[in-house]
Amino acid sequence: MKPRKMKENIYWLGAIDWDRRLFDSLIPLPDGTSYNAYLIQGSEKTALVDSVDPPLRNELLTQLKEVTKIDYMISHHAEQDHSGTIPQVLSKFPNAKLITSTKAKGMLIDLLCISEESFKTVEDGESLSLGDKTLKFIHTPWVHWPETMATYLQEEKILFSCDFFGSHIATTDLYVTDEGRVYEAAKRYFAEIMMPFRNVIEKNLEKLKSYKIKMIAPSHGPIYSRPSFIMEAYRDWVLGSPKNRVALPYVSMHESTKQMVDYLVTVLVNRGVNVDLFNLAVTDIGKLATTLVDAGSIVVGTPTVLAGPHPLAAYGVFLANALRPKARFLSIIGSYGWGGKTVEILAGMIPNLKVEVIEPVLSKGLPAERDFRALDQLAETISNKHKNQGFK
Ligand code: FEO
Repeated sequence: MKPRKMKENIYWLGAIDWDRRLFDSLIPLPDGTSYNAYLIQGSEKTALVDSVDPPLRNELLTQLKEVTKIDYMISHHAEQDHSGTIPQVLSKFPNAKLITSTKAKGMLIDLLCISEESFKTVEDGESLSLGDKTLKFIHTPWVHWPETMATYLQEEKILFSCDFFGSHIATTDLYVTDEGRVYEAAKRYFAEIMMPFRNVIEKNLEKLKSYKIKMIAPSHGPIYSRPSFIMEAYRDWVLGSPKNRVALPYVSMHESTKQMVDYLVTVLVNRGVNVDLFNLAVTDIGKLATTLVDAGSIVVGTPTVLAGPHPLAAYGVFLANALRPKARFLSIIGSYGWGGKTVEILAGMIPNLKVEVIEPVLSKGLPAERDFRALDQLAETISNKHKNQGFK
């Protein structure tokens, strides 16, 4: 795709990755993604903001064929989907200075073997003049690596935010046209990579309050011409109370756990608690992560296999622990044949979750009457706790 004009002398460059279906060999990308770079031409100097993932480097290098000079290559984030083509950009423009945070400098040297002489590090709040345009660098650590920063173009009030506020969507829409679609994709993105850093993100959101922002240009997905849309969504995801919902990831082998899961869903719904159900054998793990942004409680359903939880249940719990959602309660339901340590093993896997563990319900084989009564009790406890916490 050709460079696309955003404003006078400001262009979107980059690549749309329509076919990509997995990020980090882990995260499903049902809608592909994009790697956005931006060209800012001032009256004296020209800056390129970020680059693209190496497999699509030719897209960017072709777009740069008609660019006669780059004085500054700005790298917001050392992860290779944005930094991976910087060595080729520097080869084409050997006099360009690579602008980064000090932390990013070390990481780019480690990850891409870029020579030390190429760098100019910038402090938080430092400005750089391009002539008639001024760039201000805002350190925004942990969105989602420690070195991340953003750039604010003062004259146009555009925030180039890199991963912060991004969404994995492959689209030819330069700007957000369907806020519902982008909300879902940005929430999934937040859940998968930003949620573990909620506390630091809160500080970054606070920091941005002092800037008048007319546009947010992220490094994935379309540009926000109505930035309040995504900033308010982030505030809700980061600071909002958990909701009156249970995330229920489960796996079942011979229907015993499934019968318990189905029963618990019914009795929770009867008590006014909504449930998001995920069969871990087939689910899109990104959907589960998205649900964890709001869930007030997590209930894990698993049979006992080889004396412990089913490996898929262990995977789901490991992921939930790593994502650090704001759920306040957790329980475990499931079945066993003759014994095991399912509850102890799962309970030992959630040190990051600030949850109260509610009495698990395990049935020996198919659930019997006493097990259904225990599930009634579990549903009532969850419902009462959600009410007491004021979850809506
Ligand atoms: Fe889009 Fe953290 O890279």
